[in-house]
Amino acid sequence: MIVNLFHVTVPADRAQAFESSWSQRAGLVDAMPGFLGMDVLRDGNQPGHYIVLTRWATRADFDAWANSPQFIAGHRRSASGETGAAPMALEFYEVVPSTPTHPSATP
Ligand code: HEM
Repeated sequence: MIVNLFHVTVPADRAQAFESSWSQRAGLVDAMPGFLGMDVLRDGNQPGHYIVLTRWATRADFDAWANSPQFIAGHRRSASGETGAAPMALEFYEVVPSTPTHPSATP
């Protein structure tokens, strides 16, 4: 499994719009092969900094989505620049096998 971290910064006056756009996201990524889930993280120390975290079975699965029509369609609104979001960095990590999380710890 891999985790992909997309860092993005948003001006203070657009943060609300950026956050609410996620509750209306296209949902196209959810059906992509190898997609295992995602979270949007608000930085507790640095206002306006967010991380879009996605989990995938393999890096090839991520690359296929990133080059797909579903990626473009899922960014139709954000591509217009209306959220004022600026991309910062794209990171990839491989998940090291460890003892499973206790079921009661998962939301
Ligand atoms: C200029 C670059 C980008 C900006 C400003 C941006 C911003 C956004 C925003 C605001 C949304 C919510 C839906 C919408 O309003 O369109 C969205 C959807 C999404 N973004 Fe990005 N994004 C960018 C690139 C990326 C990259 C590089 C990744 C991952 C590596 C990523 C991952 C996602 C995912 C997984 C969704 C959900 C799509 C769906 O539901 O099908 N985004 N993005």
